[in-house]
Amino acid sequence: MDVYGLVGNPVGHSLSPPMHEAAYDELGLEARYATFEPEADDIEDAIRGADALGIAGLNVTIPFKQAALEIVAPEDLATRIGAVNTIDFSGSGPPTGYNTDAIGALRALREHDVALEGEQAVVVGAGGAGRAIAFGLTDAGATVAIANRTESKAHDLAAAVPRATGHGLAALEELLADADVLVNATSVGMDADATPVPADALHGDLAVLDAVYSPLETRLLQDAADAGATTVDGAWMLLYQGVEAFEIWTGQDAPVDVMNEALRSRL
Ligand code: ATR
Repeated sequence: MDVYGLVGNPVGHSLSPPMHEAAYDELGLEARYATFEPEADDIEDAIRGADALGIAGLNVTIPFKQAALEIVAPEDLATRIGAVNTIDFSGSGPPTGYNTDAIGALRALREHDVALEGEQAVVVGAGGAGRAIAFGLTDAGATVAIANRTESKAHDLAAAVPRATGHGLAALEELLADADVLVNATSVGMDADATPVPADALHGDLAVLDAVYSPLETRLLQDAADAGATTVDGAWMLLYQGVEAFEIWTGQDAPVDVMNEALRSRL
């Protein structure tokens, strides 16, 4: 029996257990996915203990993603982002840390036929999600403009990301006029009919990914659809970060449709 899990605090409402267990069932894997809520001071003991107990893999979420970076051997992208959300314990050396949030966003866009190489992307938000997505888009060959309510945070992030520029939200209209891809990496729109982007700044040549998945149809995605843009909802990002973790851990192709159904039936 392989044991996987999610470490965070809180993790009670996570959709990762049903999503991963649907994949184990589909492929006939003898595995389980549990959730763990250590105290803030105990994260290092928790990760080392998981390794000692033979746990196969862990996802890591808020508030432990930055601390996890210091405890595992991180991949290059996770190091640059400054956060680990997936740990693989299968090697003989120290556990390896990955950031599949970034890869999940890229794969969500690619699976919707959104080109990134040489394209102009606008990321709204400069928190943890914005940081991961900005690095991911840059690695995929896009030029990234970061717009944030607190403009100084956009400048700080842009200074760390190659070819990126930082802006306040007031610049969105101008930035979007020439943009191909827009990602909302703020919490605006979560459980509320609000959007961080003025509707009239959207246009039909855009692909819009919203990291918010509750609700699935955010005000931003509705405005984007009205403008004729390609829309990608936040469940795709959640799905593909899980798909990436599954594939890192098992070395098998994930049953994406089954995982997607397990996720969407609960949203
Ligand atoms: P996460 O790790 O999910 O990115 P976070 O680090 O708290 O969470 O970042 C939240 C992001 O949403 C930030 O970019 C934040 O903008 P500020 O840096 O100005 O705080 C953005 N955000 C949250 N509420 C917002 C609002 N009402 N309008 C615009 N941006 C908002």
